[in-house]
Amino acid sequence: MDRPLSFKLVAICSTTKARASLMKLRHSTVELPVFMPVGTQASLKGISPDQLSDLGCRLMLNNTYHLGLKPGQEVLDAVGGAHSFQGWAHSILTDSGGFQMVSLLKLAHIMEEGVRFLSPHDGSPMLLTPEHSMNLQNSIGSDIIMQLDDVAMLRSVRWLDRCIKAHKKPETQALFAIIQGGLDERLRRLCCEKMVERDTPGIAIGGLSGGEEKPQYCKIVSLCTDLLPKHKPRYVMGVGYAEDLMVSVALGADMFDCVYPTRTARFGNALTPKGVLNLKNRQYASDFRPIDSECTCPCCAKNGWKITRAYVYHLAGKETVGAHLLTLHNLHYQFYLMREARKAIIQDRFPQYLRDFFSTLYEGRM
Ligand code: GUN
Ligand code: ZN
Repeated sequence: MDRPLSFKLVAICSTTKARASLMKLRHSTVELPVFMPVGTQASLKGISPDQLSDLGCRLMLNNTYHLGLKPGQEVLDAVGGAHSFQGWAHSILTDSGGFQMVSLLKLAHIMEEGVRFLSPHDGSPMLLTPEHSMNLQNSIGSDIIMQLDDVAMLRSVRWLDRCIKAHKKPETQALFAIIQGGLDERLRRLCCEKMVERDTPGIAIGGLSGGEEKPQYCKIVSLCTDLLPKHKPRYVMGVGYAEDLMVSVALGADMFDCVYPTRTARFGNALTPKGVLNLKNRQYASDFRPIDSECTCPCCAKNGWKITRAYVYHLAGKETVGAHLLTLHNLHYQFYLMREARKAIIQDRFPQYLRDFFSTLYEGRM
């Protein structure tokens, strides 16, 4: 294959803008819409690559910034990239690094040249440029690499041009542009136009999931999907709540990532179709039902020997296996949700699927 990504639309909903598609990458073929779990440090906290693969995951996210610091570029080059390093045979998407630095390190300073920050290891000044981010992502060898971006929309366009120039492996790694422009419709339109012109294999919508009101979020996603090419994947960055995933799919988005399902597992939270259960709550101390009786994950449906809510309550906060079990359950739930949505799109019953999803979610709370 001389192209790093091929994208095929399988079905389009006749009512909403939802799409089902197939995205072929170097290491796997991915069914879209898809949720990508986040393994920041080349691991999903608490579960092994085998377990992740067994859940059906074919595309995970890693962070350039973290891998660049540790294990570092030398080790990545020596081992032949992040796939070999972590024993993951399927696909990887890496985020470019700048966004993580700006959100993690309050001391990051953005300039035209790049993002200046102090090394969290020894405090020495460092500069992440579009060229350096591409160079690191080329060493990581991820199937999809993201441009270095900034909330300043025109700077992101200039940085994309520098990324395209610096990208040394365009035949094996697909570079995605990132649409910025905040909540300003005019800036978003302009940015879509400029990014589409640059003709990258896929396009992301960034600068959202930062606590904006839902109507504004929807307006921006919808405006962007109207302007983006039909025959390319669209990735909304940082989205992971079930409600947001389903609405965004209806608005024509195909790919999502978020730390939420895995992070919240470590806080004792179990995701279910009826809402979130906090299994650290005393009410579960003698609740011997499975986490979710309908769930087919390895915890809830294990050959008649099920993990109970009481057991997770007992482990919570004391034994790490409690968090591992909830991580498996929560990821299974995210993948199930996306798989069912995809099926519904293909069978052209996605609007009814959405109605059922929301009534199940909210009936428990009314
Ligand atoms: N993750 C969530 N939002 C963003 C964004 O706007 N840019 C990047 N690079 N990553 C993100
Ligand atoms: Zn389960």
